[in-house]
Amino acid sequence: MPRVKRRELMNKRMLGYVNWHRGRKLVHRREILDLMTHDLAKQKPDHIAVTGDLVNLGLPEEFLRAADWLKQLGSPDRVTAIPGNHDAYVRMHPDAGTLQWRPFMEANDEGAALFPTPDSQFPFVRRFGDIAIVALSSAIPTLPFIAAGKIGSAQRALAASALDTLARAGLFRVVLIHHPPLRHQAGWYRGLRDAGKVTKMLKQHGAELVLHGHNHAQTVHELATATGPAFVIGVPSASEAVGGRSPAARYNIYAIARAGDGWRIEMTGRAAAGPDHVWECERRILRAR
Ligand SMILES: [Fe+2]
Repeated sequence: MPRVKRRELMNKRMLGYVNWHRGRKLVHRREILDLMTHDLAKQKPDHIAVTGDLVNLGLPEEFLRAADWLKQLGSPDRVTAIPGNHDAYVRMHPDAGTLQWRPFMEANDEGAALFPTPDSQFPFVRRFGDIAIVALSSAIPTLPFIAAGKIGSAQRALAASALDTLARAGLFRVVLIHHPPLRHQAGWYRGLRDAGKVTKMLKQHGAELVLHGHNHAQTVHELATATGPAFVIGVPSASEAVGGRSPAARYNIYAIARAGDGWRIEMTGRAAAGPDHVWECERRILRAR
């Protein structure tokens, strides 16, 4: 958290600032984030997906620091990011906000050739060989103490069309969304307002993997869709200290390969076990083919 000027707190940020000093700063630690970032680099993943909430109060300095962290993860062609509810904490000019992350939050040429990005910026599509990412934004400014999100009818319709196009191309589809997409996963104050409609869209148009954040917990749900099973997976925060109320910092590695006429997905979880130790806490085959 950078130093905060008083005039920057003359809105919703004041409550968030108090919240931060009352608790969040104790559990979300820069040194834990750095530990996880270094461990992740050693695994040499082909691609890194970041599902949002990179800032707390939406201060311009926070957006710059988050941009530096994204650059540390890798070049924009190897890192994809989407915004979370904290990244839309207060209404601000995008130049000072998420536009700082734009190289990590836009289509690549291969993705745009299949599905051109709408003016609204989301969904955007990135393609890497057999794998495509459909990146959604559920980030909306809300009243204080409300961490809800929404995809909205226009973005849902575009996402449906993108998923259909990618299915016709025979690609493995990874949907990125900050809020958990299933209705039971979060209540009114912090959930996705159109979770029911998003779930219906996913069921009708299909996806192979749906990755989300927001809940700070490892969860796996299998959703039956028109094109086969979609695995909906949430992961703990990447900066959560060990021994707190929420699970310690973790990230997941997904090894994805064609198997017969389907896909094999293996998930490996790596979690912080102490201030300087990360361990492989889980290895699981989600789908054999
Ligand atoms: Fe969130």
